[in-house]
Amino acid sequence: MENNFDVIVIGGGPGGYVCAIRAAQLGLKTACVESRGTLGGTCLNVGCIPSKSLLNLSETFNKAKKNFNNQGIEFSDLKLNLNKMMMSKNKSVQVLTKGVEFLFKKNKVTYLKGKGLLVSNNEVAVVENGKKNSYKAKNIVIATGSYPTSLPGIEIDEKNILSSTGALSLVKVPKNLIVIGGGYIGLEMGSVWSRLGSEVTVLEYLDYITPGMDREISSEFQKILSKQGIKFKLNNKVTEVSQSSGKVSVHFINNKTKEKEKIESEKVLVAVGRKPFTEGLNLTKVGVKKDTKGRIEVNNKLQTSISNIYAIGDVIKGPMLAHKAEEEGIAVAEILAGQAGHVNYDIIPGVIYTSPEVAVVGKTEEELKNDNVNYKVGKFPFLANSRAKVNNETDGFVKIIADGRTDRVLGVHMIGPHTGDMIAEMALAMEFGASAEDIARTCHAHPTHTEAVKEAALAIDKRAIHF
Ligand code: NAI
Repeated sequence: MENNFDVIVIGGGPGGYVCAIRAAQLGLKTACVESRGTLGGTCLNVGCIPSKSLLNLSETFNKAKKNFNNQGIEFSDLKLNLNKMMMSKNKSVQVLTKGVEFLFKKNKVTYLKGKGLLVSNNEVAVVENGKKNSYKAKNIVIATGSYPTSLPGIEIDEKNILSSTGALSLVKVPKNLIVIGGGYIGLEMGSVWSRLGSEVTVLEYLDYITPGMDREISSEFQKILSKQGIKFKLNNKVTEVSQSSGKVSVHFINNKTKEKEKIESEKVLVAVGRKPFTEGLNLTKVGVKKDTKGRIEVNNKLQTSISNIYAIGDVIKGPMLAHKAEEEGIAVAEILAGQAGHVNYDIIPGVIYTSPEVAVVGKTEEELKNDNVNYKVGKFPFLANSRAKVNNETDGFVKIIADGRTDRVLGVHMIGPHTGDMIAEMALAMEFGASAEDIARTCHAHPTHTEAVKEAALAIDKRAIHF
């Protein structure tokens, strides 16, 4: 086995495996270390991919239960077979993780199975089943990702107190589910189990959900999810979670009134964020610095405090999103090959894959107000979009924010059907420095949901046609 590499990537998630493939494409002798047993990291194994499978399947089940009869698709005896649904999810995961292994072979990336740790600035040890092998590398990329965090004193057992990993593999639909945290994971997994029959209550510390998103989107999103049956208790800080006789009790205190409350549930999902995963890497010994939040410090070339060690993805600052990690992986590979790798952090889309989807890119109205930027807003509701109307999916709207003087698009915030795909057009427009006028003058096929984008762009100058 080859022991000398141009690049060793530690971590085979979307950041790491994409970095390894790109580096190999560029002619660098590359290895990728992964300890999970399968490639793809959190995203493919216990994150994006299995959750999207369950979101899709639970959505179909829910539509069959609630809408089909009214739409002339009649049947009786609709049944949920959760075991089969989970098998279908597992199959999707298996196919995709194997696919990455195939891509490694195709691109001649050496796959080193085991736990990687730094021995020096150009040596990596890989430990598997008590055996240790060492490999030399000119450059090392740390792409070890993140893991679910909990609250002080609350221990996730993955039986009754779950992280996203446990919530993706329940064997029975719980009668009720308390979700702590109204962010990406809480709302996606809360939606899955609510559609499959659980009574879901979301407890959120802030007085709004999806922190960081445009507030108009947060409030519309909450209204829509409430209409779907999810209960919200906002402005509450969870202080304790206890278990007795098969029930979990969640204790919380209202931030405003200071009133204490307790609710019981069969299961609890803790979705209060994730932490960078750096344990066991030997960072201190080798001199790789971390910031106060435990993230590896990098400069704008993604170099750590040791110049031939790079870090990408959830383990460094920025949004913990698979596609952000991928961009960074490609940038590092290109930098190592002598090219000008670059990530535009201003244009990283974010999508919540609920129904309807939430999709955002660029600045929020709150950020622009804060920065004293002169801006204008155009909005268009899906209620007035013909395709959404025929499909009976009229919840939500598109909101485009453009510079008040130059008309350049500064941010796009959407909630509605297929917006997770539609946001790509907006990211592209922003990458090209498009104005709202450019979008308004681009011919959009009829009847499509994308016409809502064109109309929102027209609405900036109060000339939307259908609203
Ligand atoms: P998050 O940061 O999105 O949301 C956590 C929520 O928990 C926040 O709203 C916060 O205010 C709340 N919270 C914190 N402490 C609390 C307390 N004591 N009581 C009540 N509420 C409390 O984190 P989440 O949902 O765990 O997701 C982790 C990461 O995974 C995110 O950074 C996200 O970007 C990523 N992710 C992305 C997905 C996507 O792209 N669709 C899907 C799932 C996860």
